[in-house]
Amino acid sequence: MNDKNDFLASAGVNTRLSHIGNSPSDFHGFVNPPVVHASTVLFPNAKTMENRAQKYTYGTRGTPTTDALCEAIDALEGSAGTVLVPSGLAAVAVPFLAFLSAGDHALIVDSVYFPTRHFCDTMLKRLGVTIEYYDPMVGAGIESLIKSNTKLVHTEAPGSNTFEMQDISAISAVAHRHGCVVTMDNTWATPLYFKPMDHGVDISIHAATKYPSRSFRYSNGHGLCQCGPLGTIAGCAWGSWPLRCAR
Ligand SMILES: Cc1ncc(COP(=O)(O)O)c(C=O)c1O
Repeated sequence: MNDKNDFLASAGVNTRLSHIGNSPSDFHGFVNPPVVHASTVLFPNAKTMENRAQKYTYGTRGTPTTDALCEAIDALEGSAGTVLVPSGLAAVAVPFLAFLSAGDHALIVDSVYFPTRHFCDTMLKRLGVTIEYYDPMVGAGIESLIKSNTKLVHTEAPGSNTFEMQDISAISAVAHRHGCVVTMDNTWATPLYFKPMDHGVDISIHAATKYPSRSFRYSNGHGLCQCGPLGTIAGCAWGSWPLRCAR
C-alpha cells in the first residue's frame, strides 16, 4: 500500500472524494485528470499492436479519464472493477443480458425503477426469460420463489418512489445458496449510504445521471450529464463477470 492509500484508508468521506481517482503527479500536478478525447491509439510497432501489449488500445475500451472514474467508483463501492455504459438503464440491462438466457427465470423486486420493469416485460420476455416480481419485504422468504432455473435476483433499496428497504444480506445469502447472481440498483442510496458488496451483492448498479453527476468533482457538477463515459456504472465483485473481477 502506498502513502496515499494509507492516508485515505483512515480519511473521512469528503477527503476521500477529493483524492480518489486522481494522481496529480502523473499529470504535471494538475489536480484533476485531463479529459482524453480519443478513438484511435497509436502503437509503437506491429508486434505491440498484434499482442495488444499496451494499456490503451482504442478510445471506447477506456482512457485515462474513464479509468479515473472507474477507480473512484471502485474505491467507494469496494468493487473489483467498474464498467461504464451510456445510461442508467443500460447499466441495468447489461448484467441482465450477460447472465440471463432463454429458459431462465429471474426474480425482480416489485418496487423496481419502472423502465427496468418495462425492459423485463418487453425485451427479456421476448428473449424467452421468465420474470417474476417479488415483494420487497420478502427477506429470506425469497427461498420459496426460487426455481431450478432461477439465475438472477434483482434488488433495489430504497425502492423507486415507494422507498421500501430490503433485507439485502438475507436475500443475497439465500440467492447464493441456489447459485443465483444478485444485482442491486444502488442509485438511490449511493455507496456513501449503502455498500452492496458488504451485503453479498455481486453487481452494484448506478445511474450516474444522479448522485455522481451532481457530486463528483470529475463531472459537470450540475446534474446535466446524460451520456458519454459518465453515463452509468456497474461495479462488480463476482467471479464470473467477464471483465475485471477477482476481488
Ligand atoms: C433507480 C434508478 N435506476 C436507473 C435509472 C436510469 O438512469 P438513466 O436515466 O441514466 O437511464 C434511474 C433514473 O432515474 C433511477 O432513478
